[in-house]
Amino acid sequence: MPKKIQTVRGMTDILPRQQVFFERVFQAFRTTARAFGFEQIETPLVEEAALFARAIGEGSEIVTKQMFSVSRLASGNPKGAGSSDDTAKQALVLRPEATASVVRAYIEHGMHTWPQPVKLSYIGPMFRYERPQAGRLRQFWQAGVEIIGEGDASIDALTMLVGWQTLEKLGLGEQLIISVNSVGDRACRSRIRKQLAAHFEKHASELCEDCKGRLKTNPLRILDCKQDSCRKIAESAPELIDLLCEECRAHFRMTLEYLDELGLPYELSQRLVRGLDYYTRTVFEIGALNDEARQSSLLGGGRYDTLIEEYGGGPTPASGFAIGVERVVELIKTKKIPSVQPNAPQVFLIQLSEGARKAALRVARTLTKNDIQVSSGMTKGSLKAQLRSADRSKAPLSLIIGQREAFDATAIVREMDDGSQETVAQSAILETIHKRLSQK
Ligand code: HAM
Repeated sequence: MPKKIQTVRGMTDILPRQQVFFERVFQAFRTTARAFGFEQIETPLVEEAALFARAIGEGSEIVTKQMFSVSRLASGNPKGAGSSDDTAKQALVLRPEATASVVRAYIEHGMHTWPQPVKLSYIGPMFRYERPQAGRLRQFWQAGVEIIGEGDASIDALTMLVGWQTLEKLGLGEQLIISVNSVGDRACRSRIRKQLAAHFEKHASELCEDCKGRLKTNPLRILDCKQDSCRKIAESAPELIDLLCEECRAHFRMTLEYLDELGLPYELSQRLVRGLDYYTRTVFEIGALNDEARQSSLLGGGRYDTLIEEYGGGPTPASGFAIGVERVVELIKTKKIPSVQPNAPQVFLIQLSEGARKAALRVARTLTKNDIQVSSGMTKGSLKAQLRSADRSKAPLSLIIGQREAFDATAIVREMDDGSQETVAQSAILETIHKRLSQK
């Protein structure tokens, strides 16, 4: 028996039935982003590893453990390893997220010369080598936005609003909450790190193994460790808000005032620090109210005011978020929120001979060219069997072409709800179908 080939662990097929839910999320996101004036960007799935190492942080879990490296298969490839091709020399990875890619594109294409802020949106798959479990995939879809070139607190609120409105459009508003915090700017950060490190050092022996490492690389991350022992120690840690400089505190206060103004439900979340190192000032997540431990966010984002400069651009503040599409899809499904039905065809084509199949293909070409959705199995099944398929397809009309109709250049139009039929010339089919569909 040949070896069975299956999907790679942590990666899934999105079958036609699932597409309906994904499409709903994409549509809600696209319409919201468009209404707020975002333009779309698409960046490659493959980037240089160095792009993410610098942005997300050399010590972050994503960079140390979760990147999929990309290499070409050397065997059978005339340009295999060791060739002079540039890509063979670079360390390449599948993107674990898109913010770093969008920032790269902003600098690479001189977007600082465009009217600021530049507002970009994207939808696409991301890749992270995580331990597969509910809500954690190794390939997952994100829908995100980045607003680059404006540092005002109103932009922080606007960023959250776009994410909130997308989820609200999906009927999820009632059961969600925004968690928000400020991690300060780069200057605050060294003070925060020092103070937190001093606190956690005192309890070093009680920390989990991961957090023992974080004590050296990024003590901030200990704040959002989910282990009970670490949570307890984090509870008595100094509050971030008390460690912020005056400007960062004022920025945070203004952000909250804008959220109040918009009437968005939020909670201050002292322990929210996020797993990517590029954030400055505001960080936020949106999650389900009943997910009390805030374990599984639907969306995460924040401000990253120094990232563009770190890549060699000018000082450019920025802010953004990304929605985890699969997590939203799971929620839509469990909440039994009515989803759009897969598009039923408008016309089902039934043919009963080889000559009729030729005529049916011609008719299909005419109808689909005029944006009428047509379905047909083109099977050799009996009239009865094909009518059963037509019924199952939920098409309101079917077109039957038998040997005789093929010969006469006619077709039978059948109303599927009452079975009434009319014979029309093939040349008049488009007109007849249009008329009947407009009466539905
Ligand atoms: P993130 O928090 O790493 O942020 O990911 C955003 C969202 O993607 C999460 O809230 C979650 O819903 C989803 N997600 C993350 N990892 C997985 C996974 N393994 N499986 C399924 N879903 C997942 C970012 O990626 C930032 N780039 C967001 C951002 C944009 N910040 C500023 N601009």
